[in-house]
Amino acid sequence: PAPGWAIDADVVVVGSGVAGLTTALRCAAAGLRTVVVTKARLDDGSTRWAQGGIAAALGEGDTPEQHLADTLVAGAGLCDEEAVRTLVTEGPAAVHRLIDTGAHFDTADGGELQLTREGGHHRRRIAHAGGDATGAEISRALVEAARAAGLRTVENALVLDLLTDAQGRTRGVTLHVMGEGQHDGVGAVHAPAVVLATGGMGQVFSATTNPAVSTGDGVALALRAGAEVSDLEFVQFHPTVLFLGAGSEGQQPLVSEAVRGEGAHLVDADGIRFMLDQHELAELAPRDIVAKAIMRRMRERDAEHMYLDARHFGADMWEHRFPTILAACRSHGIDPVTEPIPVAPAAHYASGGIRTDLRGRTTVPGLYACGEAACTGVHGANRLASNSLLEGLVFAERIAADIVAAERPGPAGHSLLTEDAASALTEDAASAEVLPLIVPEARSTIQRAMSRGASVLRSARSLEEAARALDAVQSAAYEPLAPDAKAAEPGVDSWETTNLLCVARVLVAAALEREETRGCHWREDRPERDDADWRRHLVVRLTPGRG
Ligand code: SIN
Repeated sequence: PAPGWAIDADVVVVGSGVAGLTTALRCAAAGLRTVVVTKARLDDGSTRWAQGGIAAALGEGDTPEQHLADTLVAGAGLCDEEAVRTLVTEGPAAVHRLIDTGAHFDTADGGELQLTREGGHHRRRIAHAGGDATGAEISRALVEAARAAGLRTVENALVLDLLTDAQGRTRGVTLHVMGEGQHDGVGAVHAPAVVLATGGMGQVFSATTNPAVSTGDGVALALRAGAEVSDLEFVQFHPTVLFLGAGSEGQQPLVSEAVRGEGAHLVDADGIRFMLDQHELAELAPRDIVAKAIMRRMRERDAEHMYLDARHFGADMWEHRFPTILAACRSHGIDPVTEPIPVAPAAHYASGGIRTDLRGRTTVPGLYACGEAACTGVHGANRLASNSLLEGLVFAERIAADIVAAERPGPAGHSLLTEDAASALTEDAASAEVLPLIVPEARSTIQRAMSRGASVLRSARSLEEAARALDAVQSAAYEPLAPDAKAAEPGVDSWETTNLLCVARVLVAAALEREETRGCHWREDRPERDDADWRRHLVVRLTPGRG
């Protein structure tokens, strides 16, 4: 649709979590005309929901090298070591700058940061706030800083598409805005630098820890704009999500890994700790290993969930260390002080995303990606717990520095679309770009198809079924309307559903293509990791300008 209004800026940041607001604050502080646009309210993204904390080598005796080693092990052979080194060496100072921005982390009596452990970490290195409300505190501090800095923001603004000039350089974005007065309807922010910090895509599945806004909008936009997207098959399923009943849909309450970090046990219905013989770190093994072990046990026992037992914490520790989780459990009729918590895995984090270099540049000149929407290479096949807030922080600062330094922002210093498999995917997925608007009613069909076929356990058969269901949604959009049927109306629901279908199709195509089990991609029909053929990334690029 043609924009009805326009704002001129030097940089437009899409998204207002840790990645978006940090980038925007740094750009504005350097004197750039900066606009933040965000789909709901400023604090409605995933950052606010992060519980466990932010990982960095901040503790006595810990080093970036040890953090690097743990991150590489979790990433199962697919991390970009240089990107991880950047993350872990720049991480501690970035956390201290976040504290200077106003975030209050939990400290011990002597004033030093309290640090906890989570899966895959060999040391206590997770800083936390409000016990288990780290993301909420970071979000509060950044939103306050944004207001204090007078940052220009447009809320309730769904990003639609990238604007480019004849040379393919970024010129801004189009938006659909509702209820924001002078900037209502479809409009544009014109800027030579666009930062996509739109978060994840957990809503592509029926049950997820992600909030309703996580519909893969940035990744879908990047695909439509011809940017490279990588590693979408690596969806991380959080092992311990409060089980609310079979078929429960939408955002589900998280039970942080920090609960295991403080000594909770995973047990089956007979009270048996089943992680002890699975991994030297038992309940604190990397997340993919714990999720798989839970799924296996659920299958063996024909059970819908397992249990997390932390009764031994006692009421005092529950109330002070994990108040958010305690309240969530109690609001669902479970008291973790007196009973084990029923838990099962649910979709949690997209380890892949829009491919960037170490300055956050995508392959489209002037287009940057940051946070969960990006694939910087730090997560590989499985993100290490609590590295995501850190990634948002560290790479936001790098992006801001690049935008401030660049007279005309350029493309990433690499092109990664080299593998045969990637080319095959490009062909396969290309039609996603010419997709017409999808009716909002298709959303639950997409989510159920993904949860049935592309969830924590996958096989060629289950993925082909999912692909068929997604194709049917797409085909229906091309068919002439039945006399009583409604066409998709342009609006947030239809655009989100269109984005969900776009990213779901690419995700399934990548998961089908990767014929091995690695990290959080678990193919039951290909149970082994295959380093000979598959120690590589699947990179997808749609052909821009079609349709
Ligand atoms: C958690 O608190 O378990 C979530 C941490 C993360 O996803 O990194």
